[in-house]
Amino acid sequence: MNRAELIVGLQWGDEGKGKIVDHMAQTNDFVCRFAGGHNAGHTIVVSGRSYALHLIPSGVLNPNAKNIVGNGVVLSPADFIKEMAQFENLEGRLFISDKAHLLLPYHAQIDQAKEKLKGDKAIGTTGKGIGPAYSDKIARVGHRVGELLDPAKLAGKVVAYFEQNAQVFEVLGIVAPKYEELVTELEGYRKALAPFITDTTLLVWKAIDDGAKILLEGAQGTMLDIDHGTYPYVTSSTTVSAGACSGLGLAPKDLGKVTGIAKAYCTRVGNGPFPSEDLSSEGEILRKNGHEFGTTTGRPRRCGWFDAVAMKHAVRINGADQVALMKLDVLDGFEKVKVCVAYEVDGKEIDYVPYDLEDAKPVYKEFPGWEQTKGIRSFEELPETAREYITALEGMISTKIGIISTSPDRDDTIVRRG
Ligand code: GDP
Ligand code: IMO
Ligand code: MG
Repeated sequence: MNRAELIVGLQWGDEGKGKIVDHMAQTNDFVCRFAGGHNAGHTIVVSGRSYALHLIPSGVLNPNAKNIVGNGVVLSPADFIKEMAQFENLEGRLFISDKAHLLLPYHAQIDQAKEKLKGDKAIGTTGKGIGPAYSDKIARVGHRVGELLDPAKLAGKVVAYFEQNAQVFEVLGIVAPKYEELVTELEGYRKALAPFITDTTLLVWKAIDDGAKILLEGAQGTMLDIDHGTYPYVTSSTTVSAGACSGLGLAPKDLGKVTGIAKAYCTRVGNGPFPSEDLSSEGEILRKNGHEFGTTTGRPRRCGWFDAVAMKHAVRINGADQVALMKLDVLDGFEKVKVCVAYEVDGKEIDYVPYDLEDAKPVYKEFPGWEQTKGIRSFEELPETAREYITALEGMISTKIGIISTSPDRDDTIVRRG
């Protein structure tokens, strides 16, 4: 039976999913996004040229792969259109689900206004409107991409929504859009996007039935999942592999191999617990060597050490068959490399993720470092201590590290056999 392969983030996002999806897309017929919105920033580097993708699936650089934006995604038409402009000949190889929810400019305004009101309790969102768009979807007051096909009707509904929530918008300082202007704006979106809007569920079913090779591209990471992450410091979608079913219209039995993506260390953008965060000069070195600044917002990413406890949690939730270990080269030159092997909570050592990760202190094990792995393309050529580090991680997370990445470039990727 034909099954779709999955790529998911195992940490707090930005693990390097884009690079691996692009690498695998070279041998896949379809690449499908199933969750998130333009809060995602997936970077792909091919022959020195860098592409930042937010909503368009990372298969777009393979001219033979078809790309699907599934119903589980929240789609900002304005941002999508901007992103499309980087590429040519998208018709026939890019498809948007008519059931995906629209993220309209007022969602971003609500997101930013609410974050401001929260003060020091802010989540540190990307400010793109993700939470408000998903909230509207769940509250059954959202609008779907299919509605773009009738701009006048959709504009009427949006104006009515503003009228119903006039007091809330007043408190947030958000001005209602004018009907005529809204029609013009939505008409622009319709013109640009109508050729791409379709029932993508039928498309993926057919692809599965035809035996096509399908890759499902996760966004964000497991620790940002609405249920399994560090709530409330999470995003508003199901980022884990289970979300691929509802976000595309697939059944669990349609899913095959799961590859979890993890950095050889750890980063987080925005607020919330991060037990293995390193606030010393070593964390600074990780940020500098790893260029750890957000692809979407440019914010500096918080940096720290590989967290084997959170990783075990993530591997289990996603059913990861293998892990792709990214950015090994960023650890080059460290005399010692640390791994968080347990947490200390209330004076006790635990080996699982507790209810509130805020209370967890890291227990570290140190490993000898190495000089250089950058650009190495075979496991055997890696320095011995780097190989020992990888083998030790495999033991701690009881999962094979089948892929190792040693630079941003597509080709600097070690795929281990067996
Ligand atoms: P994503 O959101 O999971 O797709 O990851 P991002 O693209 O936001 O962040 C990962 C960053 O690391 C990007 O700038 C990549 O180009 C870069 N990157 C990916 N793999 C490697 C690697 O093995 N080494 C180095 N040095 N950079 C990498
Ligand atoms: P990719 O796909 C890293 C974080 C934000 C914030 C929290 C909620 O590139 O890995 P949101 O705007 O979603 O309401 O913000 O989630 N966040 C990400 N962090 N990578 C991402 O995506 C992220 N998408 C959201 O920084 O802490
Ligand atoms: Mg990213």
